[in-house]
Amino acid sequence: MRKGLILVIVLAVALVFMGVAMAVPPGKTVEYKDGAIGKVIFDGKTHSAAGNKCSDCHPKLFQMKKGAAKITMKDINAGKSCGACHNGEKAFAAKECMKCHKK
Ligand code: HEC
Ligand code: HEC
Ligand code: HEC
Repeated sequence: MRKGLILVIVLAVALVFMGVAMAVPPGKTVEYKDGAIGKVIFDGKTHSAAGNKCSDCHPKLFQMKKGAAKITMKDINAGKSCGACHNGEKAFAAKECMKCHKK
């Protein structure tokens, strides 16, 4: 009886935790407004749908905190930040400016 209750609580906590974890990036977007040639919208949903796992980006490329990273084209072109994938191999290349920058 007691064991059953503990199991239920553990499961409930696990489910809430998973729900929170999964709700964050797929449904969320991050907007970078200082794109100069147009703002950039990072969409968690399209990135998850493209098969990227949380660990592909967190924590080595980005912190789990909106606006924590100062993203620059210098880094992107050097294969860091978004450029770790947007290099024409894992995803479209950094030279395809307007795929990221929108008016
Ligand atoms: C393709 C890369 C990528 C993938 C995959 C990804 N994220 Fe993120 N995530 C980001 C970026 C970029 C940010 C914004 C970071 C910044 O602005 O410095 C972010 C932000 C977050 C935030 C902070 C949101 C906020 O409002 O502050 C959380 C939480 C998060 N991610 C969790 C996850 C989880 C959980 C997964 C897997 C289901 C995941 N992310 C997958 C790139 C990714
Ligand atoms: C993978 C997505 C992506 C691609 C492709 C991309 N950018 Fe960016 N760019 C960004 C992000 C994100 C920022 C940061 C914006 C911010 O800080 O608000 C940025 C910032 C900039 C800035 C302002 C500051 C800086 O770092 O220089 C300029 C100018 C810029 N991009 C031009 C370009 C040009 C020109 C191209 C094509 C040759 C390009 N970008 C391709 C994502 C991209
Ligand atoms: C772990 C690899 C990875 C990282 C890191 C990554 N992307 Fe992507 N991105 C992808 C893949 C894969 C696709 C889909 C395939 C394609 O379009 O080439 C994609 C698609 C996109 C698209 C087109 C679909 C959409 O959501 O509109 C944009 C815009 C984009 N990424 C912006 C960014 C920006 C901005 C960053 C950095 C904040 C970033 N990506 C970081 C892998 C990545």
